[in-house]
Amino acid sequence: MSLRFPTGFLLGAATAAYQIEGAAEEDGRGPSIWDTFSHTPGKVLHGDTGDIACDNYHRLDADLDLAAGLGLNSYRFSVAWPRIVPDGKGSVNQKGLDFYKRLVEGLNARAITPMATLYHWDLPQPLQDAGGWASRDTVERFCEFAQAVLEGIGDAVPMWVTVNEPFCAGMVGHLEGRHAPGLRDLHAALAATHHLLLAHGQAAGLVHSRVPGRQVGVTLNLSDISPASPAEADQTASRLLDGYENRWYLDAVLRGSYPQDMLDWYGQQVPVDFIRSGDLDVIAAATDFLGINYYETKIVAADPDEPCHQARVIPAAGRRDASGLTAGGLDARPAALGRILRRVHHEYAPPPLYITENGAPFHDYVDPEGRVQDIERVAYLSDHLGEALGAIEDGVDLRGYIAWSLLDNFEWADGYSRRFGLVYVDYATQARIPKASARWYQQLIAAQRD
Ligand code: FCB
Repeated sequence: MSLRFPTGFLLGAATAAYQIEGAAEEDGRGPSIWDTFSHTPGKVLHGDTGDIACDNYHRLDADLDLAAGLGLNSYRFSVAWPRIVPDGKGSVNQKGLDFYKRLVEGLNARAITPMATLYHWDLPQPLQDAGGWASRDTVERFCEFAQAVLEGIGDAVPMWVTVNEPFCAGMVGHLEGRHAPGLRDLHAALAATHHLLLAHGQAAGLVHSRVPGRQVGVTLNLSDISPASPAEADQTASRLLDGYENRWYLDAVLRGSYPQDMLDWYGQQVPVDFIRSGDLDVIAAATDFLGINYYETKIVAADPDEPCHQARVIPAAGRRDASGLTAGGLDARPAALGRILRRVHHEYAPPPLYITENGAPFHDYVDPEGRVQDIERVAYLSDHLGEALGAIEDGVDLRGYIAWSLLDNFEWADGYSRRFGLVYVDYATQARIPKASARWYQQLIAAQRD
């Protein structure tokens, strides 16, 4: 417990609407692409859906008490677009706004700083039917939704994240096909990433004009990528994968340009015809902070069969290190978090940074005494927070760490099979059991006040 963070440092936990709320058809909520995707056979492990999830919609107050009981000083959640504008455009659903009003009032009453994400992947299905993120019109629709949310709860929320992981929403959803809407189309995927970034830039402007004084940023998932060998082909693959996952987004948001090597590379495969003059100025303007989600280290070898980045990630199983592997085979290396923070700091001169997600799945289970002794997660948190602190000591302006996640939840294509929570959820009864890691985190936060 010698981890001592600067005064005012946020120590919180995150969730996202579709992953926890359930109540998929209640109070006027419309369908999202994740309802469609999860109800399509073969898309999500075991056919799991977010129909009920953690039933947080009906258990809001109890879950807020849980967060307060852990001493969290911040809570990152997302606003479900299909609850606010069920048809994707047109009328605003007051009952949807009321839910988030109760949520932010409940957080503020418990002295927990709300951090609201506007887009965490639940695009209203009618907008997908009209072309989704591959269509520029969706940016307009997003701004209408953002305005409705800002009018409803803007004053009560000091920190806004516009878009969660444009890489995943764009590439994993439109090229790799593993996430909704499940496409495999490079042109659509690149257009989607651009429109998601444009949506960030425009919504950031709206936050500044509609609720002055509030902070706004975007959350990027950044991987630590390095070549498996000094061979030129591996170096090239590593650089391309870094461009594909990291630089495309970092350069756009923090430099106002896309990396030229990636523009050239993509341009050899599809027309890069979706960027209009002035777009990148909008994307790069008005960002008060950068949110970083860190999960993975990737060591890559050249693979010419991978059309979009020519890189093959060497499976982590053969590369156990001190902190080991997580349940899903994610290669979690704490030192990589420090590397990413220093890299962004040195290469991009960014605004203040927040770790907006970091966490891992382990094989958690309830023991005969009713406890969940997730000692691996305690080590994981302690190691990663240690790296975060080390980066701060080296001059990185890191202002907070938000663990993923408060609760076990619907982990997208992996359904309920991967448990990332500080709090265990028994899905049959909806009982919440704080894991050993929750207790550890609670003590860490309490120790900051001593
Ligand atoms: C991130 C997502 C988040 C969660 C974690 C494990 O990519 O933003 O919703 O699923 O992965």
